[in-house]
Amino acid sequence: MLSREIKDKLMERETPFYLYDMGLLRRTLETIRTESSRYGFKVHYAVKANFDEELLKVIREYGLGIDCVSGNELRLVRSLGFPASSVVYAGVGKSDKEIRYAIEEGICAFNCESRQELQVINEIAGRLGLRARVALRVNPDVDPHTHRHISTGHADSKFGIAYTEIEEVAREFASLEHVELVGLHFHIGSQILDMRIFEYFCKRVNTLLGWFREHGFPIHYLNMGGGLGIDYERPDQFPVTDFADYFATFDRFLDREGMEVHFELGRAVVAQCGELITRVLFEKVNALGHHVVIVDASMSQLIRPALYEAYHAIENLSARSAETGTYTIAGTVCESADVFAKERTLPRLQRGDLLSIKSAGAYGASMASRYNLHDFPESVYSDRL
Ligand SMILES: Cc1ncc(COP(=O)(O)O)c(C=O)c1O
Repeated sequence: MLSREIKDKLMERETPFYLYDMGLLRRTLETIRTESSRYGFKVHYAVKANFDEELLKVIREYGLGIDCVSGNELRLVRSLGFPASSVVYAGVGKSDKEIRYAIEEGICAFNCESRQELQVINEIAGRLGLRARVALRVNPDVDPHTHRHISTGHADSKFGIAYTEIEEVAREFASLEHVELVGLHFHIGSQILDMRIFEYFCKRVNTLLGWFREHGFPIHYLNMGGGLGIDYERPDQFPVTDFADYFATFDRFLDREGMEVHFELGRAVVAQCGELITRVLFEKVNALGHHVVIVDASMSQLIRPALYEAYHAIENLSARSAETGTYTIAGTVCESADVFAKERTLPRLQRGDLLSIKSAGAYGASMASRYNLHDFPESVYSDRL
């Protein structure tokens, strides 16, 4: 873990800040490139996981495309030199302005999430005298067995077009002159580590593909979304997640002959290369005898524990002896949910100790807010130290 190796350099810095291990990011990208190219799969990076420009520049070097969900994300990646033709655009609520901009840019495909959205894309493209490329985001009704807040592909979610409505929507294409059906898009959820879920997902998609073929819609493009998880409990042992198994599962179970297959990975690309570095401010013992440690970071910098009860490994970088304590580690803001860990046993903590909250590179900085008017966290990059 980078922070442990360079802790002396970190001691003097003002906290909290995100520390990015650019070497680990490169190793992760190298693995993605090697494992996806075995099967000719195309990988897009889901910018929502982290829109840090320094990370994006490295991601661009490895030839990944982009999955964006807003006009601003599209604008950012275009300004950094990602070709429009490598960008797919998802999101349940695209505004007219965003749709117009993406059509003008000539993106690879919209991932269209409803019948009405399809009609609006058609109208806007018509007004521009252009044709928009559209993949239908189908909700395949697959339960990813992940946290309910990061589960998107079950029948009752707000995402995608219901599989029960897909026939009507597909037929509608014939009457829409300004959209071209490029294929199908799916995304069932995030932080999935059990390959049997992806296997089941592939089988659901094969059934849907069969229907499309039988009804005269030959599909040659599939976007299987993202969702591959990482090891939050053992980041030191598994800094790069198992991309080999992931891509091999799709190769094995997806009926993909003659198909261009795309993925949109976020967490698996950037989570492990980021750590949130924070300092202990105060310690106290509450009436129940629990040791509470207040650090200078909060849910304003890393909201995952508060939002999803997410687990992040924490290390005391200032540990000086084998003596341990069991702590609740809480943030500064005025919310009871602002707790990074409960009942966590760590080398004894005291005021001024530097802590690393690990695996924080995805959905950390990009979800930061200025709640309590805290500053946005700074970023520190290993190759600039
Ligand atoms: C449509 C879509 N694609 C891709 C992703 C990236 O998911 P992950 O970070 O789990 O790979 C998300 C995450 O929310 C998403 O909604």
